[in-house]
Amino acid sequence: MPKRVRTAVFPVAGLGTRFLPATKAMPKEMLTVVDRPLIQYAVDEAREAGIEHLVFVTGRNKGVIEDHFDRQYELEHTLEVRGKTQALAELQMDLPSAGQTSFTRQQEPLGLGHAVWCARELVGAHPFALLLPDMVFKAKPGVLKQMMDAYEEIGGNVIGVEEVHPAEVSSYGIVARGEGPDPGFRITGMVEKPDPEDAPSNLFISGRYILQPEIFALLSEQTKGAGGEIQLTDAMQILIRTQTFTGVKYEGRVFDCGSKIGFLTANVVFALDRPDLAADLKRELRALDLGD
Ligand code: UTP
Repeated sequence: MPKRVRTAVFPVAGLGTRFLPATKAMPKEMLTVVDRPLIQYAVDEAREAGIEHLVFVTGRNKGVIEDHFDRQYELEHTLEVRGKTQALAELQMDLPSAGQTSFTRQQEPLGLGHAVWCARELVGAHPFALLLPDMVFKAKPGVLKQMMDAYEEIGGNVIGVEEVHPAEVSSYGIVARGEGPDPGFRITGMVEKPDPEDAPSNLFISGRYILQPEIFALLSEQTKGAGGEIQLTDAMQILIRTQTFTGVKYEGRVFDCGSKIGFLTANVVFALDRPDLAADLKRELRALDLGD
């Protein structure tokens, strides 16, 4: 039986340059899909998958993320006085328990691989989940839960993958597919942002991982890869020589909320799924008379 995954890492130290000026003083991870910040979706998904320890890798201007996962006594008191019991209960449900969160700092955004390495002391010598909060999923059960189910049978390293249009492979990490069925096939290789003609498949790594702690030693070499950043994919490519990597083509779909189109689409799709918003939003969208 594989060792239990109790810890999840959330890298939130990036600059979010694709969303400037919104992200000049505000973290990208606090942008909202409808009325929940991106980071809240990732934390909910981790808790649904049974994660007990939430590790955030933060940087400058990210203090508000820490505040978001704290109590706000004044607000809670006001909601109580005004009888807004439902809103109050929801706020309390969203909150991790005391002592469940840890925060560490990436002083310079040197890349995702470097951000993950910054969590090494908090994770220790245990397998851990990694969730990129700008990737938001519509999936039931949550994507990490689906991956955890596969992990409990297979162990090793597990990566969530989804099909992407061949023209878009150069924006993502792409895996090479080996033997096995969709929920749990063997990954034989991976490459970060390949040219479409060099891509080994159209299955992209959509921001959810279960990793073994041996990744930290490889990341400590701090070799720069694509875009001059320390890339997680490069370290995984070395780890795959000695450890198993399983691809989970999960049920559901991702919205890349680090890109404007993904973010805007997610807002429409999630709002259309909300009983309190769907009818009014549909009416407004119809009234736009988009032509084609
Ligand atoms: P992205 O590359 O999508 O985020 O990283 P970014 O660099 O902030 O955005 P752009 O490209 O400039 O618009 C995915 C996740 O990894 C974190 C980001 O905060 C984001 O949640 N990240 C990225 C770090 O924590 N540190 C880094 O050095 C890079």
